[in-house]
Amino acid sequence: MAEATDDLKALETQALAELAGCSDEPALRAWNTKYFGDKGLMKAALSAIGKVPKEQRASYGQEANRVKVALESAYSAALDKAKEESLATSLASDKLDVTLPGRPARRGRLHPATQILRDIYAIFADLGFQVYRTNEVETDELNFELLNMPEHHPARDMWDTFFTTTPGTVLRTHTSPGQIRLMKETAPHPIRAILPGMCYRNEAISTRSEIQFFQVEGLVVGEGVTMADLKGTLTAFARRMFGPDRQLRIRSSYFPFTEPSIEVDIDWPKDDPNRDRLTKGTGWLEILGAGMVHPTVLRNGGYDPDKVTGFAFGMGPQRMLMLKHAIDDIRLFWQNDLRFLRQF
Ligand code: PHE
Repeated sequence: MAEATDDLKALETQALAELAGCSDEPALRAWNTKYFGDKGLMKAALSAIGKVPKEQRASYGQEANRVKVALESAYSAALDKAKEESLATSLASDKLDVTLPGRPARRGRLHPATQILRDIYAIFADLGFQVYRTNEVETDELNFELLNMPEHHPARDMWDTFFTTTPGTVLRTHTSPGQIRLMKETAPHPIRAILPGMCYRNEAISTRSEIQFFQVEGLVVGEGVTMADLKGTLTAFARRMFGPDRQLRIRSSYFPFTEPSIEVDIDWPKDDPNRDRLTKGTGWLEILGAGMVHPTVLRNGGYDPDKVTGFAFGMGPQRMLMLKHAIDDIRLFWQNDLRFLRQF
């Protein structure tokens, strides 16, 4: 007579054969559902005990449990093996060379114009100068009039001006109007400060001129301030900025707000291959305008020109940067081309 347990043995044999045929994890999981899922064959075999003749139930139950445990452990062994194999294949295809150098994290950096401004602040801080910031949108009065350039003064043409839609307001064409603000705030006390900031000029953009650029103004006011102090300050600055051997050349010039007015050139190192091109063959480069503060300007700032004197200068930090690094196109500064900016 056929034993009910024979069905269990057949089920075991079939299940093990199918398990052996499963080549990957998904196939194994499908196998598991087929036998151990809610409607799985193993479940069905277990609950079939009710239909087994009474005298065979005990042995059927035992056998059913043995088959269940055997299949479960065969399944978990096969699953472990499949996982290990797939890990091994992915490791083999995804080789990791732990000796490779790491990828450097890209760090941000300061814009070259900011860097040179900070260099300038540091040098003047050592010379005892404070930093004073003033308005970029200025009144016509401060940008011109109080700097000794009344309306229709021909010297106004030295600065091509952007006017705003508000009458009497301009984008400052230089940092000099800050002189008046600082003097009005400080008079009658002495002043030793630099005034950095953005200036605007309505010019055709070219390799040499931009419509916006930085200037650093300097202003010293006090009793007994002389041209020699101006010369000493500028020489100390130029040597810190451009090297200890640099020479300065002073040429007379004209600005309405200084008297006398000068322009200052710096000699360019003879061994620099760009020397001829940068200095147009002269060996000298203009780096700033300066002079003794005009008595009218001192008076406009609230000082008594019979008691105090002062000197002022205005320099272009971007121009200095161009000199230092032989950059021949000022437009590079605001184009934000990373290939240019990354060099600094
Ligand atoms: N403001 C002048 C300019 O922009 C420079 C300058 C400043 C000259 C201070 C003399 C004194 O050209």
